[in-house]
Amino acid sequence: MTQLAPRNATPEDDLESALVSARARYTLENPKSAAHQEAAKAYMPGGNTRSVLHYAPFPLAFVKGEGNSLWSADGARYTDFLGEYTAGLYGHSHPKIIQAIREALDGGLNFGGQGVKEARLAALITARFPSIDLIRFTNSGTEANLMAMAAAKAITGRKKILVFRGAYHGGVFAFPFDDAPLNAPHEFVLARYNDLDGTQRLIRDHAATLAAVVIEPMLGAGGSIPATQAFLAMLRQETENIGALLIFDEVMTSRLSPGGLQAVHGVNPDLTSLGKYLAGGMSFGAFGGRRACMERFDPTRPDAFFHAGTFNNNVLSMAAGIAGLESVFTPEAAVSLNRRGDALRNALNNAFTRHGVAMQTLGYGSLMTIHATGNKVASPEDLSTSNQAVKELLFFDLIADGFWIARRGMISLSLTITDDDCAQFAGAVESFIERRIRLLPS
Ligand SMILES: Cc1ncc(COP(=O)(O)O)c(C=O)c1O
Repeated sequence: MTQLAPRNATPEDDLESALVSARARYTLENPKSAAHQEAAKAYMPGGNTRSVLHYAPFPLAFVKGEGNSLWSADGARYTDFLGEYTAGLYGHSHPKIIQAIREALDGGLNFGGQGVKEARLAALITARFPSIDLIRFTNSGTEANLMAMAAAKAITGRKKILVFRGAYHGGVFAFPFDDAPLNAPHEFVLARYNDLDGTQRLIRDHAATLAAVVIEPMLGAGGSIPATQAFLAMLRQETENIGALLIFDEVMTSRLSPGGLQAVHGVNPDLTSLGKYLAGGMSFGAFGGRRACMERFDPTRPDAFFHAGTFNNNVLSMAAGIAGLESVFTPEAAVSLNRRGDALRNALNNAFTRHGVAMQTLGYGSLMTIHATGNKVASPEDLSTSNQAVKELLFFDLIADGFWIARRGMISLSLTITDDDCAQFAGAVESFIERRIRLLPS
């Protein structure tokens, strides 16, 4: 992008002044995005319709995406290391996905009837995830979790759902550190992620009333914190013992191996919720699992659970999803993408170590988050010392260098990101460390 002034022309003495300058520079360089945000405020609260996308002073407005790149309304190009919070696995214009969508468009939209594509997509997904015998589609991951949790309550005849502090399972399932005001009105029991003894105790304490334990096998929005195999195995055993369902939310993590993180850990949940990339970048969600649970949705049963949704089988999502799994995100592609992610995470961590700064990149495979703390992190509580100002400074410095990541430091690689892109990104992070070293935690 156009450089205004070298960022290190006047090195700032403290983090707050550095941030003030970084925000000022950002504001100066992105007047069209700022104007767009101002105008949007007239029609949307705070100019926003998706809370996670907001950050101060105003978010960039994007106008185009192609391959691994995004362009802002201000004409700057960014290499996209966010990959639409994991949904953009295929990049912005993968020819096979675009072709599938074009062909679907030619066939017409909105049949108001059963199509022939949904069973094909269902076959492709169930073949990848051995714990999923039967599957149903929704329009979002949030909806998938709504259905999975409601089904668990109806199947077990119990009311409580155990979730983890710091987890995010959708717009009505946010647990920053407690229940949130807009959450679905279930009776939630909150546990600490990766706390084996404490969680085991809670499950046993609530044995008679617990319908399900819901867990992301790696917290995505919660900071790319992986669960240990022992923790997941304990959850499997304890839920089985008390007759509760184990639900894996693999909306983000299903891409981390050909069979998701459940395959990596060899732990089979009763139900899995899915979403994001699995419809090629079109809107999507799904829940599926053991035949005995999912058969309850069979509409030929007199006691069938009712699950509707106008767009559950919409032709664009079905077509793009099939093309993606059939010919792009093959099991081999999954392995190689996640290897690239592991290499990038190691490169970033090596740079932090080499320069002696207390920062780290957590994650697994193609999904990771940069944190500004040297603490050992097993649960979101351990991130309380992560320096948010450092993360913000990194975010603005990467923007100035032409890289797009999440404001919270999350990165998810798309298939269009190359080794060379990763090397450039790691180089930009290393430049940040060198330039800002006096301001970083050591
Ligand atoms: C783990 C997890 N579950 C569920 C959701 C909700 O999915 P959606 O945004 O499609 O409703 C998300 C979204 O980020 C997620 O990360």
